[in-house]
Amino acid sequence: MAKSNLICSLDIGTTNTRAIVGELDRDGSLSIIGIGQSKSTGLKKGIIIDIEATVRGITDAVSQAERMIGENLDSVFLGVGGPQTALLPNKGVVAVQGEQREVSANDVDRVIAAAQVLAIPPEREVINVSPLSYIVDGYEGIKDPVGMIGVRLEADALIVTGKATYLQNIRRCVERAGLEINGMIFKGLSTPALALSADERELGCALVDIGGGVAEVSVYMHDTLLSFASVPQGGDLVTQDLAHGLRVPISQAEQIKLLYGAATAEKSGNTTFKIETVGATQATEVDSAELVQYIQPRVEETFDCIRNELIKAGFDKPPAGGLVLTGGASQLPGLTDVAAKKLGANVRVYRPRQIGVTDPSFTASTAVLFFASRVNPAILQKQARSGKSPRFIERIKSFIAEFFG
Ligand SMILES: Nc1ncnc2c1ncn2[C@@H]1O[C@H](COP(=O)(O)OP(=O)(O)OP(=O)(O)O)[C@@H](O)[C@H]1O
Ligand SMILES: [Mg+2]
Repeated sequence: MAKSNLICSLDIGTTNTRAIVGELDRDGSLSIIGIGQSKSTGLKKGIIIDIEATVRGITDAVSQAERMIGENLDSVFLGVGGPQTALLPNKGVVAVQGEQREVSANDVDRVIAAAQVLAIPPEREVINVSPLSYIVDGYEGIKDPVGMIGVRLEADALIVTGKATYLQNIRRCVERAGLEINGMIFKGLSTPALALSADERELGCALVDIGGGVAEVSVYMHDTLLSFASVPQGGDLVTQDLAHGLRVPISQAEQIKLLYGAATAEKSGNTTFKIETVGATQATEVDSAELVQYIQPRVEETFDCIRNELIKAGFDKPPAGGLVLTGGASQLPGLTDVAAKKLGANVRVYRPRQIGVTDPSFTASTAVLFFASRVNPAILQKQARSGKSPRFIERIKSFIAEFFG
């Protein structure tokens, strides 16, 4: 990467691959300066099924961002999520070092590293470690222990693991695209950090990122990620249902959905348009209100699945802060109404405002970028140990140190 203060995120979705470039300012804040997007053709329901096609998607998205900023990019922070990831709570304990027994940043790094020492099966790998709270000499619930006096420092941490083969495949794609991975960022942590307010994260709120292939549900409460689930439901199923219902090709069904689709009669409008059904010799006229019969059942099913995931996470009723939807499919008119009715909760859509386009399909990639700019290097330690040096983190640290001494 030509300039040392540039940082790039990569989100390889089922429908689209996105790269976003940010520039770290003197005060450590981040400005977005480049965006790249390409169609993904190598994934199914969030899982890579074609390496070459995925590599092409990555190269296209990153090249686009490079042209926008006029610089070459050589490394990325990679967003990961989907059905192959899981959460595991764990504890770390260390003795506070230093004569004054004052907890230092180094002690905090050591205790986070200690929390990573756990027996995980060989087919899984640690992606991120998220410290939840610290305990100093038995005093619980401490958010930042640096500067406190004590002899024993404990950390409650959330370990995010991923299936090793799944991670190897994504790594291979990124590396084949000629990019180094600075670190993997779990989208179950990064997306809610951007899309939920502090009050929502404290009170309890479910963040649902509905893309083309999967809906990822992260539940936060007391500022802690309680659960993460990936439901194999997304906007592509709505398109498929429309294609079957109207008997049109998938590409035409997608266009019809984007132009006239709605999940409820109230939001559907009364526009008539012509379609060319497969095998027919003449165009047929369709009223947009008719589309609801194909779209609504699928959207209802999606939110039934999401409700089941919330129940599995211990929420017989949705959390008090309701649901926040994001991702490309959250833009379907009437979707929030169906969600609110099905779950009996307040529902809103989150649109990122940081990147110039307020398109919710960019939430995950934007969130990875902001999360990466603030990440404690210890969170990414595991990747350093497996040979993927978070060299860039060091560069960010030295960049910031340059201005802060
Ligand atoms: N305006 C819109 N109205 C309805 N649906 C939309 C709209 N814009 C995009 N979509 C749908 O959003 C989906 C793509 O969303 P997104 O780009 O967030 O997915 P992705 O991140 O590539 O996939 P995933 O997260 O599932 O792996 C597609 O199904 C598309 O039809
Ligand atoms: Mg996505």
